[in-house]
Amino acid sequence: MARRKLVAGNWKMNGSRAALAELDAIAQAAAAAPGVDVAVAVPFTLIAPAADRAPALAIGAEDVHERDSGAHTGCVSAGMVKEAGASFTIVGHSERRADQGETSQDAWAKAAAAHRQGLNVILCCGETEAERNAGRAERVVQAQIEKSVPDNADGSWFTLAYEPRWAIGTGRTPTVDEIASIHAIARAKLRMLIGDAADGVRILYGGSVTGENAATLLAVENVDGALVGGASLTAAKFVPIIEAAS
Ligand code: G3P
Repeated sequence: MARRKLVAGNWKMNGSRAALAELDAIAQAAAAAPGVDVAVAVPFTLIAPAADRAPALAIGAEDVHERDSGAHTGCVSAGMVKEAGASFTIVGHSERRADQGETSQDAWAKAAAAHRQGLNVILCCGETEAERNAGRAERVVQAQIEKSVPDNADGSWFTLAYEPRWAIGTGRTPTVDEIASIHAIARAKLRMLIGDAADGVRILYGGSVTGENAATLLAVENVDGALVGGASLTAAKFVPIIEAAS
């Protein structure tokens, strides 16, 4: 099944109002690549100004709380980020799993909350280096998917991102064969969980994607786009990835 490619940036805890100027050239590149969906997840404080500055881009959050409202000091709900102008959120990122101890069950609850509020979701999974070295990468990813993908997931709102933790921000990437193998396994697991709807779900690769390696990575079977950290912070580095996807 043909799926449109999605190139999504994740600014993490980076950026400022001044940095939003980068979105101008990113939006121009997105307009020049009508066959590619382009999205940028930014810190909570930048969602509203980013959405105002780049109305043609999908602007998203990097996380949301699993509850719709309540006594959760310092947390931000899916409804709040939507009101600020977000159309999607990332959930289950490995940095939140590592830094905040989030689990696949938490990612499930956050994905469900986001969907309740009408947000699209990019849900992350991926093994650690120790898990890969122990030959457990496939089982780890399968288990994460099983615990975190909502039953009603489909491609209209749900995207999976495979991000091996050891490839994030390191300049290292898995081999093409390793990526193809995990993405095929992820697709098969999705099919077991949500049936034919799995065919419409995009599976992104994330971890040290650059303008130099994007064309190779995006050509791998079942790789439907990229989730990009460091190289999404500037148009100079992000635009070549958008171009490689088109
Ligand atoms: O979510 C994107 C990410 O974790 C990958 O980061 O900097 O390796 O592209 P980076």
